[in-house]
Amino acid sequence: MKLTRLDKLRLRLVAQDACLGWAFNDIAGKPGIVFELGLGHGRTYDHIRTHLPDREIYVFDREVDCYEDCIPPSDKMILGDMRETVPEAVQRFSGQVVLLHADTGSYGDKHNSAMQQLLNATLAPALAPGGLLVSDLKLDVQGTEPLPLPPGATESRYFIYRRT
Ligand SMILES: C[S@@+](CC[C@H](N)C(=O)[O-])C[C@H]1O[C@@H](n2cnc3c(N)ncnc32)[C@H](O)[C@@H]1O
Repeated sequence: MKLTRLDKLRLRLVAQDACLGWAFNDIAGKPGIVFELGLGHGRTYDHIRTHLPDREIYVFDREVDCYEDCIPPSDKMILGDMRETVPEAVQRFSGQVVLLHADTGSYGDKHNSAMQQLLNATLAPALAPGGLLVSDLKLDVQGTEPLPLPPGATESRYFIYRRT
């Protein structure tokens, strides 16, 4: 039977949770900041800040339209079109990002393909050596290699890469 939209959403959320949980353990004890690309309703931001209370977390979106209790501090919220804000932030924080979570996909193939191109072309210099890129979209960022997904995550529902 084909996967329904509900199946896909469930598998994506389960994989997202498993991958982020795995990443929190992997980066423990390693210095660096966190990028959260895609504030959305603030669900994954809330999860990340709760599990990584001592990390500086920079959050990107074109707008703040999230749960009221998930609004990032203004000095950590990087507002604007990611086509402009991400390249600028990559320069500013070059080599400092130990965990980059990219949750930028939508229902539209055209949007997803544009985001993939943007992220593939820009993210590499941001990552610290050994840093992780956890993404809802399949990416091909120079200098990173794909990692196997942790238990509980279904292949191709989420993606993890490490800066080599
Ligand atoms: C899938 S949602 C993020 C969901 C969020 N992580 C959560 O758990 O609630 C993707 C977000 O990316 C943002 N986004 C997509 N393309 C963007 C762009 N080019 N510039 C800025 N924000 C963008 C959208 O506004 C949307 O809030």
